[in-house]
Amino acid sequence: MPKVLVTGGAGYVGSHTAHVLLRKGTEVVVVDDLSRGYRHNVDAARLHVRPLADTDFLVSLMQREQFDAVLHFAAYALVGESTEKPELYFRNNVAGTVSLLDAMSRVGLRRLVFSSTCAVYGEPLVVPISEDLPKAPLSPYGESKAIVETMLSWMDRGRGMRSVSLRYFNACGADPEAGLGEEHDPETHLIPLLLRATMTGQPITIFGDDYPTPDGTCVRDYIHVLDLAEAHIAALDWLMADKPSGFFNVGTGSGYSVREVLAAVEKIVGKPVPFRIGPRRAGDSPVLVANPAKIQETLGWKARYTRIEDIVSMAWEFERKHGKRRTAI
Ligand SMILES: NC(=O)c1ccc[n+]([C@@H]2O[C@H](COP(=O)([O-])OP(=O)(O)OC[C@H]3O[C@@H](n4cnc5c(N)ncnc54)[C@H](O)[C@@H]3O)[C@@H](O)[C@H]2O)c1
Repeated sequence: MPKVLVTGGAGYVGSHTAHVLLRKGTEVVVVDDLSRGYRHNVDAARLHVRPLADTDFLVSLMQREQFDAVLHFAAYALVGESTEKPELYFRNNVAGTVSLLDAMSRVGLRRLVFSSTCAVYGEPLVVPISEDLPKAPLSPYGESKAIVETMLSWMDRGRGMRSVSLRYFNACGADPEAGLGEEHDPETHLIPLLLRATMTGQPITIFGDDYPTPDGTCVRDYIHVLDLAEAHIAALDWLMADKPSGFFNVGTGSGYSVREVLAAVEKIVGKPVPFRIGPRRAGDSPVLVANPAKIQETLGWKARYTRIEDIVSMAWEFERKHGKRRTAI
């Protein structure tokens, strides 16, 4: 079993992945500065509360623990915030990753799985999106991820560092049995916002209902966080088998509109979702759906959670059981 360093393991996707890895018997150590994650998502014995920028700390940790690979989730991920504060995103996501790669080079650690995003494509000209489309990010957030992907290709050439970049589409869902789910602050993701609207009665704004889609609202590819965890494990296995670097879309290959997700929430919760229609948001593409053929054929990974009702139902169970702790933080 490999031993892995998980950066950002106190956050949403990182904590689910660390939990699945631990269940499979992989040794996991987490580095997270808790700037956007939670102590309750990680077993205290595995958690080092440090920023990525602390290169010397990372070097000594890597020397001590002799990791086989790094799963690199740590980043800021709010598109709007990145547009207002680009320097914050370049410092945290790009310079933070430079520090991590520097530490890895110094100790000869040469395998990394990177959390990239479909935001690297910007507004794609062709849907479903395949990896051969050009990168054209529309925000500093997307740009920070595109820059790291480019850095990784040079680290491969110069340092023999093998990496897999996973371009997630819309991460969603929860693992309520493990007590894990979405707790972003602020929350910007549709499913938790819809669920909370049913509880608070505060209407949610739908940004635009005049897009060229069947019901006028935006269509997204919702990928369950447990499917993302399995994609990381497939990428890790690939790197452990000394296979070459690559980049892959991680999505289901089909999309749901905002109205379809809203209808699923109403069905699962058994209550109407209060909402109002607002104007379109700058930079929102009408349809973002992955072509997942490359990851299916190369890494043998395929999404298991493809029904929106199943995804919503797990997220709802998490909200009901654990949502209260959010107000206590
Ligand atoms: N959630 C999504 O829909 C989505 C989609 C595409 C890509 N991603 C990417 O996946 C990764 C995880 O996303 P998430 O939703 O779990 O985010 P998250 O905010 O829940 O988790 C990120 C974690 O990284 C930590 N962190 C941030 N900067 C750090 C630093 N400099 N040093 C140490 N720790 C740091 C935070 O404290 C947090 O615990 C991110 O890289 C994000 O860009 C997420």
